[in-house]
Amino acid sequence: MALGSAHSALTLDRGDACAPRSRGEDRITPPLAFTPALRREMEPLYERVKHVVTPMEWVHYAPIIKAINELKRERNAVILAHNYMTPEIFHCVGDFRGDSLQLAKEAARTEASVIVQAGVHFMAETSKLLNPDKTVLIPDPLAGCSLAASITPEDVRALRVAYPGVPIVTYVNTSAAVKAECDICCTSSNAVKIVESLGAPRVLLIPDEYLAKYVQTKTKVEIIAWKGHCEVHERFTGEEMEAMRAAEPGLKIIAHPECPPDVINAADFTGSTAAMIDWVKTKRPPKVVLVTECSMASNVAAETPDVEFVRPCNLCPHMKRISLEKIYEALLYNRYEVTVDPTVAEKARRAVERMVEASV
Ligand code: 13P
Ligand code: SF4
Repeated sequence: MALGSAHSALTLDRGDACAPRSRGEDRITPPLAFTPALRREMEPLYERVKHVVTPMEWVHYAPIIKAINELKRERNAVILAHNYMTPEIFHCVGDFRGDSLQLAKEAARTEASVIVQAGVHFMAETSKLLNPDKTVLIPDPLAGCSLAASITPEDVRALRVAYPGVPIVTYVNTSAAVKAECDICCTSSNAVKIVESLGAPRVLLIPDEYLAKYVQTKTKVEIIAWKGHCEVHERFTGEEMEAMRAAEPGLKIIAHPECPPDVINAADFTGSTAAMIDWVKTKRPPKVVLVTECSMASNVAAETPDVEFVRPCNLCPHMKRISLEKIYEALLYNRYEVTVDPTVAEKARRAVERMVEASV
């Protein structure tokens, strides 16, 4: 589903500003200056990112980080930060950090009144499904996902007709309207478990073809795939992996299951973003490449200065729409609120809740 497409069941409330906007709509006035006192106060947070954020960058980030953390307290808000956020967001304003499954579980548990999703739109929708009475904000409503855009509810209904009686598992990277047509959700960290939990000989696993192919290598259940791809991970190639291995003796290659099969075949380990991080933190390889979105290596590097990261990584243009400034404005102006049509939400929520229950 493309944002704003005819299939979209969501509406984006662009929110009236809680405070009047100053001149220059798209520019915010820095809420605080980088004084010596502020520098000292923010020192503990800088400690967290000093290996990956330069002192010059910190002069720009520190005032807005302080302003965001104050606004969070005032508004009883939490920020759910995906592993692909940049380090100043991930380590300095994120209250909960993790992969899609971890963030969905935190969204289900939180007592906060406002959830700011530092991630892409389908993640914010998932948080809204699990918190229908809370305000869920996405700092940039155009933060989409090529996988979510690759399939519509009509496509899923056509699959039901083409494969009668075959359960449909949807990767969480889909719109609420697509989830509403499916039996259960999965993420990259629980896909095998979810597929096997259904007790069926054949399962449709949509929309990521490569995740489906990867799951097929781990289960005897017959997997039927859709042709969706992640625009970030599909660009990696097996030849690229072999070239890196040849150039970097001792290199460990860690891949996300959204990568093509030849990349996964060349990898030492494959797992969700959280599983990739755990692998690096536990094994502490001297040299590693995380075959996934760029920012994740920076986030792990901030905590593992002893590990050298080789970085032929790709940026996700959707994740990179989220910035400190937009998070600040989201909290200040209560925008952009994510809403889901109640009829769609009820069905989609069932698919997400089934996943959360099956993956405890
Ligand atoms: P994870 O569930 O592994 O965090 O993946 C989400 C995603 O969008 C990867 O591209
Ligand atoms: Fe979607 Fe790929 Fe970006 Fe993840 S990295 S949000 S799957 S486009």
